[in-house]
Amino acid sequence: MTRITFEKQAQDGKARRGVIRTTRGDIQTPAFMPVGTAATVKAMMPESVAATGADILLGNTYHLMLRPTAERVAALGGLHKFMNWSGPILTDSGGFQVMSLAGLRKLTEKGVTFKSHIDGSKHEITPERSMEIQALLGSDIVMCFDECPALPADRDRIASSMELSMRWAQRSKDAFGDRPGHALFGIQQGGLEEDLRAQSAQALREIEFDGYAVGGLAVGEGQEAMFGCLDFAPDQLPENKPRYLMGVGKPDDIVGAVARGIDMMDCVLPSRSGRTGQVFTRHGVLNIKNARHQDDPRPLDENCSCPACRNYSRAYLHHVFRSQEIISSMLLTWHNLHYYQDIMSGMREAIASGTFAAWQSDFHSGRAQGDI
Ligand code: GUN
Ligand code: ZN
Repeated sequence: MTRITFEKQAQDGKARRGVIRTTRGDIQTPAFMPVGTAATVKAMMPESVAATGADILLGNTYHLMLRPTAERVAALGGLHKFMNWSGPILTDSGGFQVMSLAGLRKLTEKGVTFKSHIDGSKHEITPERSMEIQALLGSDIVMCFDECPALPADRDRIASSMELSMRWAQRSKDAFGDRPGHALFGIQQGGLEEDLRAQSAQALREIEFDGYAVGGLAVGEGQEAMFGCLDFAPDQLPENKPRYLMGVGKPDDIVGAVARGIDMMDCVLPSRSGRTGQVFTRHGVLNIKNARHQDDPRPLDENCSCPACRNYSRAYLHHVFRSQEIISSMLLTWHNLHYYQDIMSGMREAIASGTFAAWQSDFHSGRAQGDI
């Protein structure tokens, strides 16, 4: 089986356009990965997710190990078959979700023990167990097992946490071994501190990974601080490997991250917002719950070609949202994911043609700050 490779095809400023080739298909970068936490992108059929333009999905070790369990998924032929998604899947490694979701948890050099948020049962994840679970799932892009504090945090806490994550990165690499056709990504930590980020990047480069993630951001620091960190963090990582910013973000976060040299991102925002009535459009954010929409025959976005915009009015979408009809989540999620993929393809074309700065100013002009 062939290796997963990254080919950079164009660069405009720091923004990069490329392609990651996997045995399950190509990933055009910059790429946005919809989140399919529990073996589903909520409210979407996999073929609909593909129709929005997504090349790759994200799945979660933490959720799947608890339910239905990685062993059960493996026995049923792996995650791709189980959820009917034939494209590439990236899985997060579990530690970050333990910290944000699990009950009572204990962190040691060995790993983390915690109580399930579903039934309170006790579990352990170590770097070795995380690699085993991600292999059982059949993940194409496996993430190192890491740990990160919420910001703001003391420099000492950030430094010792980063050092622990780097020891876990080495154990992850040793446990992952050599698996042609599957990639292992390291995760840079170090909070907002340039020297700690540099130390982390150096440690990861010495271990050698197929790609490198910027972790530990979008954890409470705000956009300005995040962009401040992204002004140096991606530059510290290898130039010829994909760079993945974890858990980001709003449309303008994504554009700002790509402008700073990021190639991949994931976020629950477009899908989660689809279920809470928050709609992203090129003019800004719209809340479909608002009574302003109840007589409005216009689509959400006149320039969008998604099924929600082609076939339904704001008045209808307002009605089904207010009535808690399931189609509301389906249509709004579809639109949000389609809009995110439109942003990505727009950026890819602009980088390829050397017009990214003009594309960016176009993107920002005419966007309302408040509700539209
Ligand atoms: N998702 C968002 N941020 C992070 C991070 O720092 N580490 C991991 N593993 N997942 C994340
Ligand atoms: Zn639409």
